[in-house]
This record gives sequence, structure tokens and C-alpha cells, in this order.
Amino acid sequence: MSENAAQAQSSPQQPRNIVVGVSGGIAAYKAAHLVRNFKEHGDDVRVVPTQAALNFVGAATFEALSGNPVSTTVFDAVDEVQHVNIGQHADAVVIAPATADVIARIAAGRSDDLLTATVLVATCPVIVVPAMHTEMWFNPATQDNVATLRRRGITVMEPAHGRLTGKDTGPGRLPEAEQIAELVRTRLAFGELPYDWRGLSVLISAGGTQENLDPVRFIGNRSSGRQGFALAELAAQRGAMVTIVAGDTDDLITPSGAEVVKIVSTQDLKNEMDTRAPEADIVIMSAAVSDYRPVNVASSKMKKGSDDSALSTLEMTENPDILKGLVAARKGGLIPASTTIVGFAAETGDEESTALEFAQAKFERKGCDVLMANDVSAGKVFGQKDNEGWILTKELEPRTVARGSKQVVAAQILDVVNEIRHEK
Ligand code: CTP
Repeated sequence: MSENAAQAQSSPQQPRNIVVGVSGGIAAYKAAHLVRNFKEHGDDVRVVPTQAALNFVGAATFEALSGNPVSTTVFDAVDEVQHVNIGQHADAVVIAPATADVIARIAAGRSDDLLTATVLVATCPVIVVPAMHTEMWFNPATQDNVATLRRRGITVMEPAHGRLTGKDTGPGRLPEAEQIAELVRTRLAFGELPYDWRGLSVLISAGGTQENLDPVRFIGNRSSGRQGFALAELAAQRGAMVTIVAGDTDDLITPSGAEVVKIVSTQDLKNEMDTRAPEADIVIMSAAVSDYRPVNVASSKMKKGSDDSALSTLEMTENPDILKGLVAARKGGLIPASTTIVGFAAETGDEESTALEFAQAKFERKGCDVLMANDVSAGKVFGQKDNEGWILTKELEPRTVARGSKQVVAAQILDVVNEIRHEK
């Protein structure tokens, strides 16, 4: 078991001392939501803004939300030696938004205000969440500074793509508070989040497929798409280019650095996966695929009475198995042999076999490289924020995945994928 996986299993989420650093960008207002998110999870929050941040949001807002005093300089409360104490007692320091200037100052090792001094003292995980105009983000000076931070073990979150302060759009937006908080929690529960998949392309299916009966009715399932989106978030965080082919999903936020392609039916999903998989290094089938579809799809709404027989007795036909098709395409040379294919299985046990035994049989049948088997007995997993089960591979012993957030589970799956790609 990797060190990270072991940490993930032994670290229940518990209240922590979180330092929220805020630097002077228009997105500083979103830091208020971040503070609230941590507080709602029971964390103790200390906000350390830069002087420039207070031009955007007043200290009173941060004091009220965090319940702790706010200062920007090392010369406030000198008797408490704040510039050392805050960093020493932190379980995590997260800087959101992080401007190009604060990133440069951290990279240079400066300590000219309370925030940079805190970062210099901190030995806990530091998560930097950049927000700036696209030109500033892509400037070689900023990119070099970000690379320096990553080399030192600081997690630098990929900026979101979208509307910036003016009329322009592009990468540089601050991700949503919920995304930032979730990544911080994953960093704390799982351990380091490496930035080692730059140049890799990852294709992930997520959510449930829908099979139409008529223009208003369909057959669907309870999948929320959360596990697929969590995998996308962490693959993007590792530096990969990520495409999510998404069916019916909850109102999930698109991970920074990922593209979403929407589909409806199993056939739509198959078309997208078959077209895109030959370009991908890693293909993950986390979608909940409908095994059957109606033989006939009515072009206008079926009416009670006249269409009774069509509505009460549906004639169904089997859908193609997309995952098996991808494995066959690789065998046939249509997908490179180096592509890693990951499947999912939702299993419950019965009187004769355990959920793990069913999963092992499915792993054999599907022929993929990794199978994440979810234990879905008694309503577990579907639509919920947590997941648990086993990761199966040909190379390694089955790895038990303890109950944890879908992002922490995703981190473990990607680690196994990384391990077996290196073993090949
Ligand atoms: N899958 C697929 N195409 C299908 C059905 C499933 O690609 N028509 C994929 C899923 O995305 C998942 C894996 O196969 O990665 C297993 O899905 P699951 O529903 O657990 O398995 P089934 O093959 O449908 O087997 P069963 O429902 O009989 O357990």
C-alpha cells in the first residue's frame, strides 16, 4: 500500500486549524464563502489578509465569519509573536485568492507581511489558489514561480476557466469555494497531491445515461456523477488534460482545467468514448450505463389509454458494453496498448457470494486494467458524497478503500493507476 493510501485510511476528517490567506484581487470576496465552508465543517479558521486584500473586503467581515481577530502585519499583537504562532499551529494554510504578486513573494521566500511570514513558518500543507488575468497567469515569471512552489511541495490549484473581472474570459478565475475547501480536505486526508501527469490526456465518463421512451419520459438511474467529477478534479490537479463525458449528473461544478461533453443515451456515450479514447492515455468508465434501452422511442408523447400497451409493457433490447468494447478496441490495435482502462462496478453480496467476489468475477469479465468496486449494499454510495470498496488490478493485491469522500477515493484510484502504469 502506498504511503498516501495508508494515510487516507487512517485520517478521519476532524476539525482543524485552517489559516485562510487572502491577497488583493477582486476574487477576495469569495474568501468569505471559503471561511464559512470551513466553519460549517467545524474547523477553526484564522484569516490572514494582505493589506491590499482589505481594499476589497473589510477586516470586520473576516473577523465576524471566522470568530478570530484579523491582522495584516507582524507588528500587531507583537507580544503574541503572531508571525510565528499562526503558522506553527496551522493544520493547513490556504491562500485564496493568490495574486501573481503574493505567489512571487512566496517563491522568493519573502516575509514582508503577516501572510508571507506565516507561510515561511508553516510546516503543514500549504495550498495556493491563484486568481488573476490570463496574461498574468501565463506570464513566464508567474509560471516559473508556480513551478518553484510545486517543487517545494506546495499544492497550487489550477485556476478555473471563465469570466474574469472585465469583459474578458480565460483561465485565471478563482475556483468556487466548495471546490477549494474540498481539495484542502483531500490534501489533509490523503497526503501530497503530486503534479506529475502534465502532458497526459485523461478521458472520464460520469453520471447516468438516459434512454428515452418518448419526448418527456426516460429510463434513468440514481448516479450523481460525483465520483467521475472527483476523478476529473484530481487528474486535472495532477496536471493532466481532462475530458468528462457526462450523462445525467447533479448540478456539479466543472473541475478547473477539465472540459465537459454532455451526452444523453448509452449510444451517445459509446460514440464519444470510442471517438476520443484513441487519443487518451487513461480512460475511466465511471458512468452508470443503462444495460437496456426501449426498442421503440415514440416521437410524440405516449398517451394513457391509446398507448396503454406500449407504456405498461416495454419491449427492451440490450445496449452495447462500452467498457468491454474499449478493451477489445485496444486488443485490436484501435487504441494504443499503453492506454490504461479503468472500470467501475457497483456490487451487493448475496447468500452465496460477497460483493468482493462478484467484483472479482466482473474484473475478469471486463478485461480492464483497474476496477474500482463499490459496495452499494443498503443504499450506500449512489448519490452520496462518500464512497468505499476495493480497487482491483492484475498486478497488486485487492486494495481496500475505506469509507471516505469521493475525492479521497479518487486520489487512491489515480495512485493505483499511476503505480501500474509505472510497473508496465
Ligand atoms: N459499462 C459499460 N457499458 C454497459 C454497462 C456497463 O461500459 N453497457 C461499464 C460501467 O461504466 C462500469 C462497468 O461497465 O465501468 C461495470 O458496470 P456495472 O453496471 O457494474 O456492470 P454490468 O456490466 O452492467 O453488470 P451487472 O449490471 O450485471 O452487474
